[in-house]
Amino acid sequence: MKNIRNFSIIAHIDHGKSTLADRIIQECGSVTERELGKQMMDTMDIEKERGITIKAQSVRLDYVKDGEHYILNLIDTPGHVDFSYEVSKSLASSDGALLIVDAAQGVEAQTIANVYLAMENNLELIPVINKIDLPAADPIKVAEEIETSIGIDATDACLVSAKTGVGIRELIDAIVERVPAPVGDPDSPTKAIIYDSWFDPYLGALALVRVFDGEIKKNQVVKLMSNNEEHQVLDLMYPHPLKRQKTASIKSGEIGIVVLGLKDVSVVNVGDTITDAKKPTAEPVGKYEPAKPFVFAGLYPIDTDMFEELRDALDKLRLNDSSLSYEPETSIALGFGFRVGFLGMLHMEVIKERLEREFGLDLIATAPSVIYNVYLNNGDLVEVQNPSELPPINHIDRIEEPYIKATVITPSEYLGNVINLLISKRGTQDKMTYLNEDRVMLEYSLPMNEIVVGFYDTLKSISKGYASFDYEPIEFREGDLVKLDVKVAGEVVDALSVIVPRTSALTRGRALVKNMKELIPRQLFEVAVQASLGNQVIARETVKSMGKNVTAKCYGGDITRKRKLLEKQKAGKKRMKSIGKVQLPQEAFMSVLKMD
Ligand code: GTP
Repeated sequence: MKNIRNFSIIAHIDHGKSTLADRIIQECGSVTERELGKQMMDTMDIEKERGITIKAQSVRLDYVKDGEHYILNLIDTPGHVDFSYEVSKSLASSDGALLIVDAAQGVEAQTIANVYLAMENNLELIPVINKIDLPAADPIKVAEEIETSIGIDATDACLVSAKTGVGIRELIDAIVERVPAPVGDPDSPTKAIIYDSWFDPYLGALALVRVFDGEIKKNQVVKLMSNNEEHQVLDLMYPHPLKRQKTASIKSGEIGIVVLGLKDVSVVNVGDTITDAKKPTAEPVGKYEPAKPFVFAGLYPIDTDMFEELRDALDKLRLNDSSLSYEPETSIALGFGFRVGFLGMLHMEVIKERLEREFGLDLIATAPSVIYNVYLNNGDLVEVQNPSELPPINHIDRIEEPYIKATVITPSEYLGNVINLLISKRGTQDKMTYLNEDRVMLEYSLPMNEIVVGFYDTLKSISKGYASFDYEPIEFREGDLVKLDVKVAGEVVDALSVIVPRTSALTRGRALVKNMKELIPRQLFEVAVQASLGNQVIARETVKSMGKNVTAKCYGGDITRKRKLLEKQKAGKKRMKSIGKVQLPQEAFMSVLKMD
């Protein structure tokens, strides 16, 4: 055990985590240059396209230093805030962490958020300044930023280039010297944490674990402590992106993959503790919390006959993603669909994209919403995930909404813009730190509702792309909130209802009906578009009637042209939904997103 090193890599997006991981793997001789050809640590297609890591990958490596043989376990962490629960479990499985910062960019928001998680887990942090080959690299300035923002000594930071390989061997030596060896009792009952799980088409549900006490042996009957399920261990392997190696046991201090032969991942939950069924350990490793969705949206097939296909597709995705939750929902406007819960905005985008791409479904997504705690006059608490289901206002005592702690790092020239944006999003300042004369770190509390739509894009555009942002959910706080409804030709379109602060209801109502007016094609009759709070109409626009037949201009003329026009209209209709007599295009359902 004294020659094992378990470490994670934490970094802001694009600071070079995957490239560095690949270099370390290569330096340990675990793969050849040719095998390295493509980056190995990111495996899913969408991850590759977007250059982000969603699922953690790990690898066990051999390394020899001064004639001594070491096992290095590189525990990869998902890089995005949506998956912060998984990040924290990966960190809980590590004894140290490489904190990578881009030598030209400096410390960014995601660096900070991850460092907080690493500190909570008492990890030994090794600052690593990457990309020193870049002409704009300024390692001294970056080391100072690390000290100011995080408060750790960065004078002995490792200077590396993951691209050219400079400093990699010294970095691995530093891991061996500075990351503490794992502690644990090999003779106590089995105690291991699941820090990742996924579905393998051949092997079934797999659990990636870190063993603290005792060992996990092949054929052992183990118990999952959160749900008391007992299962036999069918097989055990050490993780590797290209060549997994089978083993008869995973011992105290080690990481490994456990094969339990289960058909889905729903019982193999990240954060759960595995122990021996007959001789269980007294306490689990840390508290287990099931992944909690923060953002909800309705997903509806455009073709209502595709409802069952959508259900099948969601079932399939959940096999590999136990954080995905959904239940059937009916909308007067959109028909049958599902209310789907996501960990965050990126999670939502990825799921929607996979449903469309991998399963060929055409979907309408309603505007995303956070979850609201609604306290009724009779004392009951209702959790509202769908704005159209907000109870009548006269039954409500108060509404509480989720808040986040946001970290933004910006060049000082955009500080004014960024502060104005945060204030307009109902933010309050908790802290402001100058990292140096050029860059400022802001910490704000603000309602999560304000960031689910468009916040990130606006932040990027007002800072010419330079500001970075990260967040963590903190608590629920009371808000003065109202439900804004939209009526088309006198009928409330339930899928368009949103919950907004009372103070911005009027501006948002006006913007919304104006947007809708542009999007609704002219019909044979006049259509009123109204925004209302309860029965009170606060904004109105009118879509004028069409007046004459669209094909009229082809009348008596070229018949193929006329047919083409009709076909084009028909294709357009596929993406339309009828509200009463009115046809609404898909974009209309997204128009609530563009209300600023
Ligand atoms: P995630 O997908 O979130 O893990 O991003 P990441 O942090 O892994 O970034 P990645 O390894 O994909 O690197 C981002 C970009 O920086 C890529 O274009 C790399 O080629 C480049 N890069 C990484 N390390 C270096 C380096 O040392 N020098 C230079 N010049 N470029 C580098």
